[in-house]
Amino acid sequence: MKILKTIQELTDFRNTLKSSSSLEKNKIGFVPTMGALHQGHISLIKKSVLENEITIVSIFVNPTQFLEGEDFEKYPKRYEADIKICELANVDALFMPSVQTMYFKDEPLILAPAKSSFALEGFKRPGHFDGVLRVVLKLFNLVKPTNAYFGKKDAQQLFLLQNMVQTLFLDVNIIPCEIVRDEYGLALSSRNVYLSEVEKQKALSISKSLKIASREVMQGNLDATSIKAKMQEIMCDIEVEYIEIVSRDFQKLDMLQIKNSIILVAAKVGTTRLIDNIWM
Ligand code: PAJ
Repeated sequence: MKILKTIQELTDFRNTLKSSSSLEKNKIGFVPTMGALHQGHISLIKKSVLENEITIVSIFVNPTQFLEGEDFEKYPKRYEADIKICELANVDALFMPSVQTMYFKDEPLILAPAKSSFALEGFKRPGHFDGVLRVVLKLFNLVKPTNAYFGKKDAQQLFLLQNMVQTLFLDVNIIPCEIVRDEYGLALSSRNVYLSEVEKQKALSISKSLKIASREVMQGNLDATSIKAKMQEIMCDIEVEYIEIVSRDFQKLDMLQIKNSIILVAAKVGTTRLIDNIWM
């Protein structure tokens, strides 16, 4: 596995692929991450390795998507372990740039569309998605992937990236990937390391509430207000930031369209902010 740190190294690697005759279908898979890799990331990487001839993973803790006072400085970093994980998963190249490599003093900005980015995560973390789109656009331009893999865990991020690809006419397929959970149902996240054992137990009420919500829907309850109230009750021990039910294009729903809704939760457990969702 090649470890690439500069734009030149990445461009050189990319150019050798272009001239390589082993790339019959010219399929390059890309998995952008912020590192501290867990089974959720690994599932994206495995899918990419399976579906492409070459897989490139990036690890970059992107400063522009963190707000003042968020955990940018203390975001978990486990570079040695991450490199091993990628090697074992048969990744071809790992791109690990510095902030100075990725950003310039003067550069044009990209803004996430207001309507869909100011709700939910965008409302709680204004500017967050501008930073996500900005870095992913740069990464797409450098890596030039055929397929790029993103988790449904970050449902709004996935939606906004699909929207960016469509509206900026980018030549890449976004591949949505299922949420990976631990044996108790907790959605895996790099931020779970912040949780104490007691907090981990409390955090389970998030996935439990989503499970109950989906059961309600299956049993014919289509009233969003009553479903949200039941979920709130289950999460009484944690600080719920929002419970929302949206369509696949992130329009809020009062009455559920069973097949096409996403039920989302954001909650703080102690000082750790967690998000989770279920696709109906
Ligand atoms: P990060 O949080 O490291 O996540 C990288 C990718 O892994 C994202 O597509 C995310 O949705 C996916 N992922 C995380 N936890 C998952 C889980 N439990 N199951 C399935 N997929 C999961 O998301 C980011 O980084 C950044 O915003 C990034 C896109 C890299 C831009 O900086």
